[in-house]
Amino acid sequence: MKKLFDFRIKRTTTETKKESSKNDKGETVTVEKDVETVVSQKVVLRKPNRSLYDEAELFYGVRLSEGIKAGLLTRALLAKRFSNDGGILSEDDKNKYADLYLKLYDIQLDHDRLAQLGEKKRTKAQKAKTKYEFERTFSCISCHQSLNLAGKPRGGISGPSLVNAGNRLQANWVAIWLKNPKTFSEKSRMPVYKMDNETRLRFTQFIMTLKNENLR
Ligand code: HEC
Repeated sequence: MKKLFDFRIKRTTTETKKESSKNDKGETVTVEKDVETVVSQKVVLRKPNRSLYDEAELFYGVRLSEGIKAGLLTRALLAKRFSNDGGILSEDDKNKYADLYLKLYDIQLDHDRLAQLGEKKRTKAQKAKTKYEFERTFSCISCHQSLNLAGKPRGGISGPSLVNAGNRLQANWVAIWLKNPKTFSEKSRMPVYKMDNETRLRFTQFIMTLKNENLR
C-alpha cells in the first residue's frame, strides 16, 4: 500500500476487565470494570489506486445525481458537472452551432457592407419598391401583418405579426432568416425565397422600421 501521509493520534479505548475475588463467605465474586487506556494509534492516508479512483468517481456521481434530483445542487456545481461531462451540447449540436456561426459571420459581412447604403439614404422610390415587393412580388403580407402607409396594421395572420418586428428582432438575425428560415428551424413553415443580397438588405431594413412608435 502506498501512503500519502501518516500521523499518530492518541486514542482512548475502554476495555471491560473481569476481576475475581473471594468474599468473606469464601465464594468467588466476579466484578466487571471498565478500564480506560490511552493508546497511540497510527493513521495512514492511503494513496488511491485506479480502482479506488473509480469507486470514488462512482460514489461522487451517485451523490451528485441525488442532489440534482432533490434540487439541492448549486448552479456552479451543476455548471462544473456539465463541463466535466463535455458540456450541454452533443458533438452533433456543436458542429451545427459552428456551421451556423460561420453562416452568421458570412451574412453579417454581406450585411455590413450593404448596410453602408443606409435606410435613410434610400430614395422614396426605393422605399416604395421594397413595400411593393413585400406586398406583391413576394406576398409576405399574405402571412404577416405589417404597417400600411397610414401606419395601420394590415396583412395575414398565419405568420407572426411584424408590426413591432423592429422592436423585437435584430437586423442580422432578420437577414439570415430571410436567406433561409430553415437555418433556425427545420420545421419552419415560411417559404424559402431566392433573393439577391441587395433585396434582402432592403427587406431587412424595411422590417427594422416596423416599430411600435410608427403604429397609429
Ligand atoms: C406562407 C406564409 C408566409 C409567407 C408568405 C412569409 N412568411 Fe415569414 N413567417 C411565416 C411563419 C409561419 C413564420 C414563423 C416561424 C415559422 O414557423 O417558420 C414566419 C416568420 C418570419 C419572420 C420572423 C418573425 C418573428 O417575429 O420571429 C420574419 C422577419 C419573416 N417571417 C419575414 C417574412 C418576409 C420578409 C416575407 C416575404 C419575403 C415572409 N416572411 C413571407 C410565414 C410566412
